[in-house]
This record gives sequence, C-alpha cells and structure tokens, in this order.
Amino acid sequence: MNILLETYGCQMNVADSELIRSILIAKGHQMTSSANDAEVVLMNTCAIRENAHRKIYGRLDILRPLKKQREAEHRPFVVGVLGCMAQNLKEELLMHPVANLVVGPDNYRALPNLIDRIVQTNHHEVEASLSEYETYSDIAPTRIEGVNAWVTIMRGCDNFCAFCVVPYTRGRERSRSIPSILNELEQLVAAGYPQVTLLGQNVNSYCHEGETFADLIVKAAQIPGLKRIRFTSPHPKDFSEKLLYAIAEYPNICNHIHLPLQSGSDRILNLMNRTYTSAEYLGLVKTIRRVIPTTTLTTDMIVGFPTETEKDFQETVQLMDAVQFDNAFIFKYSERKGTIAARDYPDDVAEVDKTNRIVRLNNIQHEIAFAKHRCYSWQTVRVLIEGSADKGINQQMGKTAGNLTVVFPKTAFNPGEFVSVRVTETTTGALYGEVIE
Ligand code: 5AD
Ligand code: SF4
Repeated sequence: MNILLETYGCQMNVADSELIRSILIAKGHQMTSSANDAEVVLMNTCAIRENAHRKIYGRLDILRPLKKQREAEHRPFVVGVLGCMAQNLKEELLMHPVANLVVGPDNYRALPNLIDRIVQTNHHEVEASLSEYETYSDIAPTRIEGVNAWVTIMRGCDNFCAFCVVPYTRGRERSRSIPSILNELEQLVAAGYPQVTLLGQNVNSYCHEGETFADLIVKAAQIPGLKRIRFTSPHPKDFSEKLLYAIAEYPNICNHIHLPLQSGSDRILNLMNRTYTSAEYLGLVKTIRRVIPTTTLTTDMIVGFPTETEKDFQETVQLMDAVQFDNAFIFKYSERKGTIAARDYPDDVAEVDKTNRIVRLNNIQHEIAFAKHRCYSWQTVRVLIEGSADKGINQQMGKTAGNLTVVFPKTAFNPGEFVSVRVTETTTGALYGEVIE
C-alpha cells in the first residue's frame, strides 16, 4: 500500500519515523509524499503542549473530505495517529470521525498487522501499551537524506518533572547496549554521514550494564571518520565531570550543550520537581565553562508555571542574564492531563501574563544572542555545510560546532563538507561571512 507518514514534534519523533518507515517497507509497503496518493496516512504526533494536539486535530479535519471521497468509492483509507498524542489520548482520538488507528511509541512493530486488519474489517484499532524493554535496537532506520543522522540511544524518562507528559507518553527509561549503538555509528560513517546526534529524553542518564553516557560518548568519539557528534537533551542533575572532560578532550564531540533550565526561581524549580536550585545550575554552568571555555550553551524555559509571580519571573530574568545563553527556546506553560502539575496545581497564571512574560524573555534573550554573535565578527569559524540558505539560492548555510547558523555565498562545496568562513556580519539569528578556503 501507499503510505504517507507525517512527523510532528521533537527529534525523537523524527528518529521514530525512520524506524516506522523501516517497519512498513519491510512488509512491502511504499512511502508516498501526498495524501491523495495514499491508502494510509500516518501522523507521528507530539503531546508536549496543547498546541501540538490542536495541530493534529486541524490536520484530521483537513483529511475529512478525502475520507468521505474514499468511503464513497469503497476504497480503504487508514488514518493513524501515532506517537505521544496517541499514547496520551488513546481511544479518545477515535471520537474524531477521521482517525481509525491509534498507536503509541512502543507499539510500532504492530503497525503492519493493524493496518491489514483495518483494511480487512474496516474496524478501528488502538494499540497503546508502554513497554519497559522496547528499544527497536534491531531495526535499521530508513533515514531521510541529510548531513545529520539521529541515533536513539535511550527511550523514556524517569524524571517526572511536574509539567511534563513525556514519562506518561514514552514510559520508563531504557537504554540500548553500547555495542549496538557503536555498530550503528560505524555504519553511518561508512554511509558517509559527517554528523550524528545521540538522542534521548534524558541522554545523560543513559546507563547500560553499568556503563554511562560518558563511557558511551568516549567510545563513539574514537570511531575513525566520525567527524561530529552531538547529543540532546541532557538534564542538569546528571551532568558528570567525566562527560565534560570527554567533550573537552575529543575534538569531534561538538562544543554545544543544550541544558534545559525551565525557571530561575527556586520556588518554581522545586514545584517543577527539577531537583536543582538556581545556584546549583549556575555552579554547573561555571564548571562547564571552566572545562570547555568555548562551548555554546542553549536552554529551554517555561513561563507561567502555576503560581509563578512577577517576582519569580524576575528571578528567571536575572538567571538568564547571569548565564548568557547563546539561544533559548521559551514556552508558555501548557497544562497536560495526568501530570503532577495538572493534579496538584491549578493553571492559575493568566494568559495575558504568560504572553507578556514570554515576549519580555524573548526580547532579553535576543539582546543577549545579538551581543554574543557580535563577538564572532572577523573571526574564522569552521562550518559543516547543510544546504542552501532559506533566503536566496545564491547562498549556502551550515552550522558551527557550537550549533550557530552561518550563511555565506554559494561555493562549489557540497552539503556534508566543511569550510572555513570569516564572519563579516552578525544578527540575532545567524553569522554571515565569506569562505576563505
Ligand atoms: N508546557 C510548556 N512547555 C513544556 N515543555 C515540556 N512540557 C511543557 C508544558 N507542559 C517544554 C520544556 C521542555 C521542552 C522540550 O518543552 O521546556 O524542556
Ligand atoms: Fe517529543 Fe515529548 Fe513531544 Fe513526545 S511529547 S514528541 S517526546 S517533545
């Protein structure tokens, strides 16, 4: 059958879609890029904030006429909601007249059978049971071409941050074995990938038979020909010095650390169950910068967590000012069903206050990023070319090891190759320059 697979949400979903593609192709299905050509439309979905849910309901609405048309023609039309939203809402999703398949993140192996059953019986199918063991380690992902390969090293999360739905949608933490990961990395090098990103909901709590994330990344860094290694996302509580020294020691481990902070108020951090204080976080940042002075630091922030006052918010502003992140992803708190926060704390910060705080924090962060980027003026940076720049076919773009975007006039070099760029201009979002080699 022709199957359209759409991916929403985080990189973990991108990586999961690559596994889903393999599972489907192994059973003789073909992938297509248009719903009109598809007998099966699958959406790999996210549940992290309410707008992620809304997006999928909107997409299901759009598919309604196509569903009606297929029914009129007595042709099968399977519309599946997969991933985090599927796990989160399960049968509730079938109340939408278009969806007839719901499959959670640990049940993708069942997909071919479930699709067959729907085609044969025209019934609905729901498979959303979490596993403590499923890592899909034996399945080789069918990757979409690009310079980066996502490599899932662990799944699930045991942290139970009060705001977060992930422990409920992706279940308990489980790590793949080091040999299976190293084997995949070696194959990626052989296939020509210059960069891999090690993925997990909480990568630095990776643990397999006593071996830690630091052990894994040191072994990965020694694979001949592996030019760039990235990882996301770590939790501040699990950041060992051993990991920092590994990043400092191996030139192919990129000097970029994404370290979600969430709030600068100790009272809110405590309610969020983040298990660190603002002082501890700052201490970690200091250690990081002592061991890896050139590293860039990025973060995730939430504004408007229940009970957050202007004073709490000001503490967040102060901490962001103290840290000086290179980039920050800032979100309004969105209550998620079943989480600790939804159970214990009413969503009591007014929408206008959430909006006001996100705007102010974004403005502050933009100023910081602008000033930080300006420091790169006239410096030469090493760039891995990713492709054409958005604006203008005569420009290419790539990333520094610190994950800064660099735009430069088109060269004869291809995506996946490295160039040195002398920076001539900087903005909040990117560095601009000329290739000097
Ligand atoms: N509301 C808003 N943002 C959230 N995040 C996670 N859960 C929520 C929520 N309920 C943010 C966190 C996390 C990032 C991936 O999404 O900042 O680090
Ligand atoms: Fe990714 Fe979390 Fe969204 Fe699931 S809920 S897709 S793990 S961001």
